[in-house]
Amino acid sequence: MEKKKRASFGSKLGFLAAAVGSAVGLGNIWRFPYELGQNGGFAFLIVYLLCAFLIGWPLMLSEFAVGRMGQSNVSSSFANIIGNKRWNWIGIMGAVCVLLVIGFYAVVCGWSLEYIYQAITNQFSGQSPQELSDSFSSFTTGTWRPILWLILFLVINCAIVVGGVQEGIERTSKVLMPFLFTIIVVLCIRSISLPGGLEGLKFLFSPDFSKITPSVVLSAMGQAFFSLSLGMGCMLTYGSYMRKENHLGKTAFEVVGMDSLISILCAMTIFPAVFALGIDPSKGPELVFITLPNVFNQMPGGYFWGILFFILLAIAALTSTISMLEVITAYVSEEWKLNRKATAIGTTVLIALLAIGCSLSMGVWNEYTVLGMNLFDLFDNFTAKILMPIGGIAISIFFGWIVDRKSREAELTNEGVLKLKYLKFYTFLLKYIVPLAILAVFADQLI
Ligand code: PHE
Repeated sequence: MEKKKRASFGSKLGFLAAAVGSAVGLGNIWRFPYELGQNGGFAFLIVYLLCAFLIGWPLMLSEFAVGRMGQSNVSSSFANIIGNKRWNWIGIMGAVCVLLVIGFYAVVCGWSLEYIYQAITNQFSGQSPQELSDSFSSFTTGTWRPILWLILFLVINCAIVVGGVQEGIERTSKVLMPFLFTIIVVLCIRSISLPGGLEGLKFLFSPDFSKITPSVVLSAMGQAFFSLSLGMGCMLTYGSYMRKENHLGKTAFEVVGMDSLISILCAMTIFPAVFALGIDPSKGPELVFITLPNVFNQMPGGYFWGILFFILLAIAALTSTISMLEVITAYVSEEWKLNRKATAIGTTVLIALLAIGCSLSMGVWNEYTVLGMNLFDLFDNFTAKILMPIGGIAISIFFGWIVDRKSREAELTNEGVLKLKYLKFYTFLLKYIVPLAILAVFADQLI
């Protein structure tokens, strides 16, 4: 049988759209704005950008390079580079991590569809903040509704991944990402132009350096890590579909820049509106599903803006879950020599079961806990606090210390074609700063 050529992204722009799509997700929309507002505004922004560029960028570049060099999935890429399977465990751990992340992430993705529906059918209107909060909790703790929505979301997700790297992932990302960017810019302008919106912006960006404590720095780093989809092989898998002539360093820089820009735009959308209407900002699901419907209720044209916002949320979530499903699909179908389509469908069924478990753990299964956490929180904490940091440290040690310098530099410079002024600086970051910084977050979170 003729050996099939490995799939690749068709264009540089397509790759960029897909990688930014993976990075931009719920993390940008519901975590970043709140952290920025609460942790010192402009001062937090500086700390965040330092983390994103000094730790996120070298790690992303390394994931791209390992994938492109190994020309395989999240696990075998390691073996292809060094000629033995000793480091494949990083990839296996990554695949498990992705499976658990998508397990709880998909639940919220389903919620975003329900809220598009509620926005279109004008259900927020006339509800008091307390009623909005009650209706959110009765929906999320309910049994069937959230499950049906998450299944619908996963079916759409699966259909895209089944389409393949170019026809499915790249094509979808090239359409959805510009759309997402347009929505966020439009929402941002609307929000700032509300009476009192500018004040909100001033509040958001007023620098308060006294708020920058070690724990704020660590949380900025954790945020950068999750937001850039690092430490579990998503960027590695996408990197394996990159062409040999692509500029890895520049692309990683663009992804980090775009992801940060979108995070900032989300903050500039949410804060002025919340501030203008005198509402207390909250964090996580509450911000998006309770505070914002309240904002839309009170805002002129809120019906329309509400629909647009929840579409934004669903698109951002979808382009992230595509990358998660791709990691597992590539891994299972290549390692076990299975048909790609069947693998994507089988994996989706498994993910749906996990996600149903997470969804029920907010309602009827709430009393089943491990270490005091329900399944949803357990998956969230176990991946963010344990698996992702270990994955990040392992990848930086592998590429910084195990891969020999000549091969590493050959990959980064496209066999000597590119002259990289930052090579020494990057190597220093990769070998020392990245593992030590992640270790600090890891230790802090375990304690
Ligand atoms: N980066 C995504 C977000 O900000 C989440 C994600 C994590 C996506 C890991 C892929 C892999 O929401």
